[in-house]
Amino acid sequence: MNILKVLDIDSVTIRFGGLEAIRDVSFAVDEGELLAIIGPNGAGKTTIFNAMTGIYRPTQGNILFKGQLINGLKPNQLVLKGIARTFQNIRLFSALTVLENVMVGWQCRSREGLWGALAGGKRVAVNRVEAINQCREYIEMVGLADLMEELATNLPYGKQRLLEIARALATGCNLLLLDEPAAGMNALEREELISLIRHISKNLRKTIILIEHDINLVMNISERIVVLDHGEKIAEGTPGEIRTNQKVIEAYLGSEDPLEQEVV
Ligand SMILES: Nc1ncnc2c1ncn2[C@@H]1O[C@H](COP(=O)(O)OP(=O)(O)OP(=O)(O)O)[C@@H](O)[C@H]1O
Ligand SMILES: [Mg+2]
Repeated sequence: MNILKVLDIDSVTIRFGGLEAIRDVSFAVDEGELLAIIGPNGAGKTTIFNAMTGIYRPTQGNILFKGQLINGLKPNQLVLKGIARTFQNIRLFSALTVLENVMVGWQCRSREGLWGALAGGKRVAVNRVEAINQCREYIEMVGLADLMEELATNLPYGKQRLLEIARALATGCNLLLLDEPAAGMNALEREELISLIRHISKNLRKTIILIEHDINLVMNISERIVVLDHGEKIAEGTPGEIRTNQKVIEAYLGSEDPLEQEVV
């Protein structure tokens, strides 16, 4: 069977002045795959997400989305192509409600654009009702149904992360990038997050790349793992292969079994 590559990171280097945050990194992601990127602090994980979403342009190398070169495209162009993300440092519109935040995500892909929506008209009104219904569904999916009209700023940290996921889904993405979605969550919230990510992967059939320090979570849900250290890819493989990889143990996991170290 011919599996389509959704994303192809081809010998990408990203420099900030004298600092090489990413050095000659290559990996690909298949359609429908759930891939994790792990590595120590400062390894370059968020930097590579920033390059995939148009925040940074690779200094060298190519990034292809569905076979098309996307180097240098702007974040809004990449949302329209089907790439959406959440942020390590949560970026919500704090003075907007939960529903309004998700509507912003939907608006990003709306053909009407902002001017169309402002101009109004019957077609826009019908679209808007549909949009609100869709956004409500995403909010229910992430478990925030009873907080629809709450201001984002009033949500606890873990729920703000879920809201970012709903907003990303509302863009209609094919590729969903999650930057440390479990950070700040308690044990129960992490369990629910695992179910949610599985649901998005299996039922919504999104391709997902996950950056996460919670090794239990990563080992639990990823199909494949890429390990970065000091800007370089030091390993790539299944959770089983990564857990026993000597380079990974030395750079990141430590000598003990990581599953014994983390308390979920
Ligand atoms: N805009 C920038 N200008 C200069 N240096 C940067 C910039 N963005 C990232 N860096 C540097 O690149 C390196 C990689 O940072 P990055 O945020 O990608 O790490 P990370 O793997 O996401 O780490 P963490 O697990 O702590 O989130 C770090 O040394 C960081 O200071
Ligand atoms: Mg990071």
